[in-house]
Amino acid sequence: MKISLIVAADENNGIGIDGDQPAFISADLKRFKAITTGNTIVMGRKTFEALPKGALPNRRNIVISRNPDFSVQGCDVISDPHNLKEVVRPDEKVFVIGGGEIYQIFFPLADKIILTLIHHRFDEIDTWFPEISSEKWGVESKEGPFEDPKNGLHYSYINYRRK
Ligand SMILES: NC(=O)c1ccc[n+]([C@@H]2O[C@H](COP(=O)([O-])OP(=O)(O)OC[C@H]3O[C@@H](n4cnc5c(N)ncnc54)[C@H](OP(=O)(O)O)[C@@H]3O)[C@@H](O)[C@H]2O)c1
Repeated sequence: MKISLIVAADENNGIGIDGDQPAFISADLKRFKAITTGNTIVMGRKTFEALPKGALPNRRNIVISRNPDFSVQGCDVISDPHNLKEVVRPDEKVFVIGGGEIYQIFFPLADKIILTLIHHRFDEIDTWFPEISSEKWGVESKEGPFEDPKNGLHYSYINYRRK
């Protein structure tokens, strides 16, 4: 099973504020959809709860929760992240989409990180992505920086591969 982490983080690895993302960049959301559609996404229960319309369409949604009663339409729920390999086929492309707790768990198991680096340091961040060390991760591709026309934020797409 190949696992990729897909994340938008600021220059301090900040990814969340008060249950939400620090910023939404519409081109990045479109790219996220293009990358993950037709594949499998894995998320923590809190990230699921933050989705405005529930399960994301045209993708297999897997939610991780310790609550044995947690059940939602359109999602498979697992209570132990280590059971993921038992519920996905070897040919499924798996994208871990957050949040902080779930990235921490899968960080050591992933072979790819699809990062949208937002060239900004947001205040009041309370959730972070793990440190991507250059000893363990090599840059596979880099695009940008681009500017979001709506909020003026600058961002780059950086793909890392485990060395
Ligand atoms: N910038 C980005 O790309 C991005 C992407 C996604 C999310 N985010 C942000 O990240 C924040 C949410 O992250 P978070 O760390 O608070 O929550 P999270 O990782 O989304 O979900 C945490 C939940 O996952 C379940 N869980 C965690 N470890 C588990 C384990 N070992 N076994 C079983 N279940 C486990 C628990 O659910 P139960 O409590 O139900 O047991 C836990 O409360 C939000 O601010 C969100 O906007 C940012």
